[in-house]
Amino acid sequence: MKLTIVKWPEPVLQQPGEPVTDFDADLRTFVADMFETMYDAQGVGLAAPQVAVSKRITVIDCSSGKDPKAKMVLINPEIIERSGKLYEEEGCLSFPEIREKVQRAAKVKIRAQDEHGKWFEAEGEELLSRCMQHEIDHLDGVLFIFRISPLKRDIALRKIRKMQRAGEW
Ligand code: NI
Repeated sequence: MKLTIVKWPEPVLQQPGEPVTDFDADLRTFVADMFETMYDAQGVGLAAPQVAVSKRITVIDCSSGKDPKAKMVLINPEIIERSGKLYEEEGCLSFPEIREKVQRAAKVKIRAQDEHGKWFEAEGEELLSRCMQHEIDHLDGVLFIFRISPLKRDIALRKIRKMQRAGEW
């Protein structure tokens, strides 16, 4: 079932998500719904707060559905190592049409649980690394727009307000 993606400034986007404790059939259905919603929106990552569920769950697929091995479910994830620097443009399904360059680690190692509760570790570089950091930020209520300079943020927020007034947001 496709879920509704909420846009900024929906308050749930800036709340830290609750840790997941029940790894039951409902969770697995929700994860499947998140993938469906993400592919439909042509995103490479989606976090539960973006569908108004304040929990520490995110799904990622940097192959946009082309490689089944690229599908990742990160539940209660944490970044345990980071190295290097990247400065690339990012977008977010909760900020349609806004793209900004964000400073990120070039490589990260994360630890997370899968949809059955099993802990695992994974490493990401380049796009996957940025995606992991962007999505894990969502679970802490941190949005990419707050990782750019105040000047650029003001310009982006003005653009959003203009779209809101025009009924395009
Ligand atoms: Ni996002």
